[in-house]
Amino acid sequence: MKNKNLQRYAHNRASVEEHLASRLPKALRKQFVSTKSKLWWRYPVYRRAKPVTDVDGNAVTRLLDEDGTQTNLFGEKVPATRFMTPGEQQELYRLVAEHRPKFSVEVGLAAGYSTLSMLQAIADKKCGKLLSIDPFQISDFKGAGLMNVRRAGLDDFHLWWERMSHYSLPILAESGAKVDFALIDGNHLFDYTLTEFYYLDRILKREGCMVFHDYRYPAVRACLNFIEANFPYKVMPTAEPNIRVLIKENYDQRPWYYFKPFNVPQIAWTALENREMCE
Ligand SMILES: C[S@@+](CC[C@H](N)C(=O)[O-])C[C@H]1O[C@@H](n2cnc3c(N)ncnc32)[C@H](O)[C@@H]1O
Repeated sequence: MKNKNLQRYAHNRASVEEHLASRLPKALRKQFVSTKSKLWWRYPVYRRAKPVTDVDGNAVTRLLDEDGTQTNLFGEKVPATRFMTPGEQQELYRLVAEHRPKFSVEVGLAAGYSTLSMLQAIADKKCGKLLSIDPFQISDFKGAGLMNVRRAGLDDFHLWWERMSHYSLPILAESGAKVDFALIDGNHLFDYTLTEFYYLDRILKREGCMVFHDYRYPAVRACLNFIEANFPYKVMPTAEPNIRVLIKENYDQRPWYYFKPFNVPQIAWTALENREMCE
């Protein structure tokens, strides 16, 4: 019952994607359609996949953990790799449930652990839609994240844009989109993270919440040290050391000369092995 009502609700509410799509340049409109209609005809595995249970991202996460595998858009079973701990997922769920965002954006979908938690909170609170931006969902992940969302029965709340953050976010900003909640968990290079923040800050409403994953990575930490020193954001407490939660207190009103120094961790990451984390 809960499942049916929620899905009807997701269908009926004034559609965020239609609103946004109507403001996009014509050439881009086709790229920006609901996840379901985009994948429905192209991937029979997606079409045929039934939700494993009532609308429930937590159940799918549990199944992935128990089974250790996930099914991709091509019907192949592949290892289910966690990019987020269960504690971090719970924290994301709590934050989304607390903020009840009408429109959320996440950069970085991958296997969809963050996506499942955010969508579950959105469904539980009946509060809106989530847009995931990830250009490599099909090429690198073979659609596993999208399949997990579908198996959780949460696809009606979900939009996906197969486009680089540095191309899609400026378009969203130019289209006049307004965002209540954002998660940055994409490429993680300093310049990418800062670019994602820069555009998301332009569309995030006042009192909106911006969450950064991998706060213990030196590049992400340096970026946040810059942001926190120079932008009107408040840091919120969280029990998760690898997550940083910011609330936007005001719009950016810095004069052109403004600059406050910030701390850069003196930790170099030039190889995958033996990387030291920030404390
Ligand atoms: C750490 S994973 C995200 C994990 C995901 N949030 C989860 O909880 O499972 C990083 C993701 O960022 C995506 N990515 C990399 N560069 C990107 C870019 N420029 N724009 C958007 N996404 C990007 C990758 O394809 C990858 O899926």
